Amino acid sequence: MPHRDRYLFICTNRRPIGHPKGSCATSGSEPLVEALKSALAQLGAANRIRACASGCLDLCEIGASIVQEPDHVAYGAVTLDDVDEIASAVAEGRIVERLVVYRDGAPKGGK
Ligand code: FES
Repeated sequence: MPHRDRYLFICTNRRPIGHPKGSCATSGSEPLVEALKSALAQLGAANRIRACASGCLDLCEIGASIVQEPDHVAYGAVTLDDVDEIASAVAEGRIVERLVVYRDGAPKGGK
């Protein structure tokens, strides 16, 4: 399989409930993986864009986290309601600005 144009790395790390760092899985990230894969397939973009389950992205405090590369942005507090917007944006080479919490490693206001 060729290298893809873009990647969505969806953190599915799970820590015990009550852990001080929290974790994306306990914030609902696990269903995002299949939902994004499905949305990208429906858009005909799965051959160009890959949605992958990831380990901890060190963004634990912001809820379910996704890093979009090579755009080098991080989305925080992502929910299933955001999936179609993320898939459409990445398929068009765009970013969902309202979800961005880090850009090029620097914090940015998210939702
Ligand atoms: S647990 Fe998801 S970023 Fe750390």
